[in-house]
Amino acid sequence: MITAEDITGLFKDQLESIENQELRQKVVDAWVLGCREGGWESTEELMNMPFTLLVETDGINFIEHTVAVTEGAAALARAQQDNYSHLPYAIDYDRLYAGGLLHDVGKLLEIESDGRGGYRKSLAGMHLRHPISGTVLAAECGIPEDILNIITCHSKEGEGRPQEIETIFVHQADFATFNPLKMKSARLLISEIPEV
Ligand SMILES: [Fe+2]
Repeated sequence: MITAEDITGLFKDQLESIENQELRQKVVDAWVLGCREGGWESTEELMNMPFTLLVETDGINFIEHTVAVTEGAAALARAQQDNYSHLPYAIDYDRLYAGGLLHDVGKLLEIESDGRGGYRKSLAGMHLRHPISGTVLAAECGIPEDILNIITCHSKEGEGRPQEIETIFVHQADFATFNPLKMKSARLLISEIPEV
């Protein structure tokens, strides 16, 4: 069973960046609930889980992805904050870190082991894509709507929809991790094309 302490250990730095203690706890609660509902038993299982089934992930796991996207979104926010003469919008770092950590929490329900060392889309995942199941999970744990917007709208579900500024940063950071692997798989990432 994956505990709150396990989740805190996986995301220590990012959780500590959330100043609101109550929100920090709710983020941990949502991860623990997702692990329980998805049947994930240990942190080792989470570290072996690919972050997507859509491309070859080259061994990049779900936890690494979640941390990279969260830190990438924070870096995008800081790059603007530190270099613009004035910031045209307010950035809420609690919202950003909580939303980054939770953006893919629905994948705990969407992806399952195939029992042969591989992974497949679960029945739950066929019914609801992870932005939707993740939103439901997080709402059950009391995550507020502005952060649910990040989970719901971080992927194609958000196209053309009203979004928080932090949703945009998480979306861009997410695709900055996904697109290079997708292009590498399609032999479109020039430096990674094997010599012929
Ligand atoms: Fe993601």
